[in-house]
Amino acid sequence: MTALAELHVHLEGTAPPDLIRRLADRNGIPVPDGVFDGPDRFKWVDFLDFLRTYDRAATVIRTAEDYRDVTYEYLVSCARQGAIYVELLVSPDHAQSVGLPPSEQQAGVAQGIDDARRDAGIEARIVLVAVRNFGVQAAIDIAQSHAGERHPYIVGFNLAGDEAGYPPAQFAPAYEIASRAGLGCTVHAGEHAGAGSVREALTLPVTRLSHGVRAVEDPALVQDIADRGIVLEACPTSNVATQVFPSYEEHPLRRLYEAGVKVTLGSDDPPYFGASIGGEYAVARERLGFGEGELESLTRTAIEASFADDALKRALLKRMTAKDGRSNL
Ligand code: HPA
Ligand code: ZN
Repeated sequence: MTALAELHVHLEGTAPPDLIRRLADRNGIPVPDGVFDGPDRFKWVDFLDFLRTYDRAATVIRTAEDYRDVTYEYLVSCARQGAIYVELLVSPDHAQSVGLPPSEQQAGVAQGIDDARRDAGIEARIVLVAVRNFGVQAAIDIAQSHAGERHPYIVGFNLAGDEAGYPPAQFAPAYEIASRAGLGCTVHAGEHAGAGSVREALTLPVTRLSHGVRAVEDPALVQDIADRGIVLEACPTSNVATQVFPSYEEHPLRRLYEAGVKVTLGSDDPPYFGASIGGEYAVARERLGFGEGELESLTRTAIEASFADDALKRALLKRMTAKDGRSNL
């Protein structure tokens, strides 16, 4: 089986109900009302409701140690599934909203990455994510405050949240700052809005698109994405769970791949959507018709399109081809 790599997962969205409860207990606070629908299920009915539940659940993640534990537990679980690299979407807005300075949040995440590397041999990097429904100025502030000195694990910039309500082009000033500061850029588009949103997103200085799959609505756009070598961070289970597509069989991943678009796999918000990175590779194999060599090419694409530095990319590619899948990263 090929090694796995994932470019698209929201860190706060990796914490399962049990961990959310443990963190709330440790911090001496209740889990906010409306978060759970049973002992092991988050409660949400549609995408915007999911975003509200996500925000509420994330309020129990309060300290650097909490962020360390969320990061560590997720990465170790990925390593057990065969992953060698994960890019984590980390939201400074969520830290700030509970009074935690983003630098402390990032120190906690970095500690989780270091501990997971030591214990499970997995590598990870941080992509900062702004929440579009918090407005353009908040996104600019995040880009601006990380344009100079920043933690070396911070390698990229993204924009999440309510895509349909907050189209991408107005965030151009934030992207100009992030891109000029040397951060790799990607943006959620073509998930809960259509091909027009993807076209607009491509006016930003991005090399990847988070989701991007609704580009399939416009064949000329698909061709453009293929020609430009823009890489899609596809999350099929998330898309089926939030009803972007009614079933795996109707998901366009295979069609996009066959049209020459570079694609990768991500779990997005694993416990909310019943997803995992191993599960996404299994879906691609069992439901979407990808063979072993093709799955390996998805991992290779993910490593090549990652925002990690060249030395780490080379080490990861070498590890992919190592016979026993191990190497000293
Ligand atoms: N999509 C958009 N925004 C998000 C998501 C998502 O899956 N998770 C957290 N914020
Ligand atoms: Zn996402």
